[in-house]
Amino acid sequence: MELRIDKLLAHMGYGTRKEVKKLLKSGAVKVDGAPVRDAKTKVRPDEQIVTVWGETVEYKPFIYLMMNKPSGVVSATEDAVEETVVDLLEEEDRAFSPFPVGRLDKDTEGLLLLTNDGQLAHQLLSPKKHVPKTYFAVVDGEVTEADVAAFQRGVVLDDGYETKPAKLVVLKSGLRSDVEVTITEGKFHQVKRMFQAVGKRVVYLKRIQMGPLPLDPDLAVGEYRELTDEEVGMLKQYRPETDEKKGT
Ligand code: URA
Repeated sequence: MELRIDKLLAHMGYGTRKEVKKLLKSGAVKVDGAPVRDAKTKVRPDEQIVTVWGETVEYKPFIYLMMNKPSGVVSATEDAVEETVVDLLEEEDRAFSPFPVGRLDKDTEGLLLLTNDGQLAHQLLSPKKHVPKTYFAVVDGEVTEADVAAFQRGVVLDDGYETKPAKLVVLKSGLRSDVEVTITEGKFHQVKRMFQAVGKRVVYLKRIQMGPLPLDPDLAVGEYRELTDEEVGMLKQYRPETDEKKGT
C-alpha cells in the first residue's frame, strides 16, 4: 500500500494537512533516514520507516469514515455496472481498502460508515447486538397513531417475518408524512417493507443515526470525513441497552 506522506501523518495524528505540510517543510520528517519535504511524496508505511523528529511513526492501518451517502450509488466496494460508495472516496482513502458497514439501498441517503476494521464492523452489524439505527422518512399517506402502535408491537413483513419493536415518531402527518423510525435490525429494505406492511410507501429515506453516532450536519450529500478518535472510541465502547439486558 502506498500513500502520500502528508495524508499518512495527518491520519496518524500529527495535525491537519496544513500543519503536516509545515512539519515536512521544517525537515522533521524522514523516510528510511532521508529527509522528505514534499507533501506529495508517496510512502509505503508497512515497509518503510517514517520518523518525525527522530521518533518512529507507528503505522496504524485502520481507517474510519463517515459518509453522507447520496442516492444513486450502491453500498458495495465494487460493482460491474453501478457506481459504489467506495468510488466516491479519494484515492488515498481507498488505499486503506475500507468497506461499507452494512448497506443502504441505492436510493437511500445518509449516514454510512466505511472502515477496514472488520471487528468493529462485526460489532455494529451483529444481529445479536441490536444496534439502533434511526432514519428520517417521507411517507406517501397519513401516518397515524395506529401505525406507531403497530411499529411498537412489530409488524409482519411480506415474507412472514415479524419485526422487533420499532420506534416511530410522527414529525408531520398529512397526505405526505415526515417520520423518524428507529430499528434495531437490518433486514433487506426493512424500513420500506415495514411501511408497506401498514399499507404505505416510503418516498424518501435517509439514515440520521447509527448507535451513538449522529450524521454530521456539516457533511453535504456525497461528502465524507474521517471519524475523530473520540467517535471511534464511542463506537468501540458502545453497548446498546438491549444487549445489556440480554439473558435477564
Ligand atoms: N431500510 C430500507 O428500507 N432501506 C435502507 O436503505 C435502510 C433501511
